[in-house]
Amino acid sequence: MSTDGRPRILLMHPILDPGPSILAEAGEVIAYPAGRPLDEASIRQAAEGCVGIVSQLMDPIRETVLSIPGLKIVSNVAVGFDNIDVAAATAHKVMVTNTPGVLDDATSDFAFALLMATARRIVEGDNFTRQGLFKGWAIDMMLGADVFGATLGLIGVGRIGRGVAHRAKGFNMRVLYYDPNPLPQDAEQSLGASRAELGRVLAESDFISVHVPLTQETHHMLSTPQFGQMKRTAILINTSRGPVVDEAALVEALTAKKIAGAGLDVYEREPAVHPGLLAMPNVVLAPHISSATVRTRSEMSAMAARNMATAVRGGRPPNLLNTEVKR
Ligand code: DGY
Repeated sequence: MSTDGRPRILLMHPILDPGPSILAEAGEVIAYPAGRPLDEASIRQAAEGCVGIVSQLMDPIRETVLSIPGLKIVSNVAVGFDNIDVAAATAHKVMVTNTPGVLDDATSDFAFALLMATARRIVEGDNFTRQGLFKGWAIDMMLGADVFGATLGLIGVGRIGRGVAHRAKGFNMRVLYYDPNPLPQDAEQSLGASRAELGRVLAESDFISVHVPLTQETHHMLSTPQFGQMKRTAILINTSRGPVVDEAALVEALTAKKIAGAGLDVYEREPAVHPGLLAMPNVVLAPHISSATVRTRSEMSAMAARNMATAVRGGRPPNLLNTEVKR
């Protein structure tokens, strides 16, 4: 609490309108000191005396932070929450919330954009043209892979995986998916998607797009054996979380031409990118911007702020993850 009795909220990073005004109505908002490192000890120091923390995916929120006396809620401005130890939060009766739903379309669009850009060598062509290397049309210049009618393998068919399948329909793609939870039959039918074992999805797909959360089970889910199962012409797309893919194994697979290319928005050690990837023209790299549209990022900000405001006022936030903390 602040001296005037208003609940204190630590805002780890700026958020977009209307987030700040929603937070300001709910309590006294304290900005995380600029330039301070994002380690647990520093975050704990800044969050002492706060009832809530508005965090983002680069903030490690674990035992050291979650054990702060009086902390009630951590509101993550992201759908992914692998930066937060939810079990520890539950043990300390701290609510954890995320921002599901509002970023599905933007992220699905971006996965498809990476797929198209990698298949049709758009970044490579742009660099080539800007460098003045385009000296005239040539029959064999920058040949790419067909997207229309190709097979798309989805690893994970939550909301975003389904969004990508939806877009793939417009490209007449055959869609295979691997997910422990089958889609309802009517969803499979309307998306034209068939469930298969991971090995079959890897072996038969021209494009493989990853849409699983990062957990202990999905960490390095794609590594050397899985790359060995893919077609030599396959292109991997990852807009989920970097550590789902073993980045060193990916570099090795691309170097050995076990697969043809990759479109990546996320990395194993963000913001670092494996130097091997930086040197490859058949890889399209983006700086974790799949959800970065004006509308989506503003809706994520508003949703996170509303989750915080509801909790600070004693309510049950709409996007509560550890529901056992507040029934
Ligand atoms: C998320 O929300 O988890 C994305 O990675 C960033 O929008």
